[in-house]
Amino acid sequence: MNILSLESSCDETAIALLKVGKDFLSLEKNQVYSQVNIHQKYGGVVPELAARKHVETIIPLLTENLGKNKLKDIDYISITSGPGLTTSLLLGITVAKTLAYINNIPLIPINHIEGHIYSNWLSNKELRKNDKKYFPSLILIISGGHTELILMKGHGDYQLLGQTLDDAVGEAFDKVAKMMNLGYPGGPIVSKLAEQGNNKEYDFPRPMLTSNNFNFSFSGLKTAVLYTLQKKQKINKKDRYNICSSFQQAVVDVLTKKTIKAAQKYKVNSIMIGGGVAANNQIKESIKEESKKLKISLFTPHLKYTGDNAAMIAMATYYRLISKNAKVLKGKKLFTLKPTANWQLTKNKL
Ligand code: KG4
Ligand code: ZN
Repeated sequence: MNILSLESSCDETAIALLKVGKDFLSLEKNQVYSQVNIHQKYGGVVPELAARKHVETIIPLLTENLGKNKLKDIDYISITSGPGLTTSLLLGITVAKTLAYINNIPLIPINHIEGHIYSNWLSNKELRKNDKKYFPSLILIISGGHTELILMKGHGDYQLLGQTLDDAVGEAFDKVAKMMNLGYPGGPIVSKLAEQGNNKEYDFPRPMLTSNNFNFSFSGLKTAVLYTLQKKQKINKKDRYNICSSFQQAVVDVLTKKTIKAAQKYKVNSIMIGGGVAANNQIKESIKEESKKLKISLFTPHLKYTGDNAAMIAMATYYRLISKNAKVLKGKKLFTLKPTANWQLTKNKL
């Protein structure tokens, strides 16, 4: 089965071509065009600029990766149709619909968060071979826009256990970096500087650590960092390392405790992490250590699949298809597809 997938939900334009069958998987193409340099100077993604750049890059990406006649071998096209920035989503959807309609290829809309979940299948052969034994699984989604704990009982079967009530984890990393003029995106920079700091130097709050639910909140932590910076007025290199390290440790503690608590409560057979922040080694190490104590398998995506990419969208498409719960659009039906900026994977069924 050949699946062509497109992803343009935020500030990455991505394309992937996945050849997949029962016993094999071959990622023929996987290219991500990042717009980071465009948004860097604003310290965050500017939606209008993101959409305009998608317009410029998506067709060259397609022609570069597919050549002239390659579409004839494509069995399905899939596209991220939410959640994300409406104008960015719209661009990818319009291109995907046009390609599908002209070439008479079925089109499948995919949820971006589901893509992040399937980055684990993309990265772990064991999961592709024996996934039944790892369900139910507890999924921790940590990205620039989302922080969620999801109970996954099987393919396409999700229950939301908790989510952030304000900022997403990645957003908190980005904002803390912005406060110290460290650059964008903040996650990789803050975690790098944190390596050289003392994580106990500042006693930042651990919001909702002991709350009786699986929700998160990171805006108070972010504000605590801001107050510390305001109080100090001037910070040197060492302060910066220590603030990054202490901030990261607060995040690590909250994510680990809530994830492990949910894993125990729902008696899961595995834990999986997905999203851009899944690149963070401290978070992975901490959850790994705790899940090991409970003898729960932990799966994480390869670094190259933590950030936004289309390969994860293709993998999610494949599992939707084989579990017969894909929304397959053909002919004029294609034109009913619209962006769903706030598509909640666990609520709005496909
Ligand atoms: O999943 P993603 O690429 O985009 C969204 O769907 O949001 O996630 C991007 C987020 C950014 O906030 C970025 O700062 C964060 O992931 N990030 C990290 C790390 N690498 C990327 N956060 C913490 N530590 C990292 N190493
Ligand atoms: Zn993402």
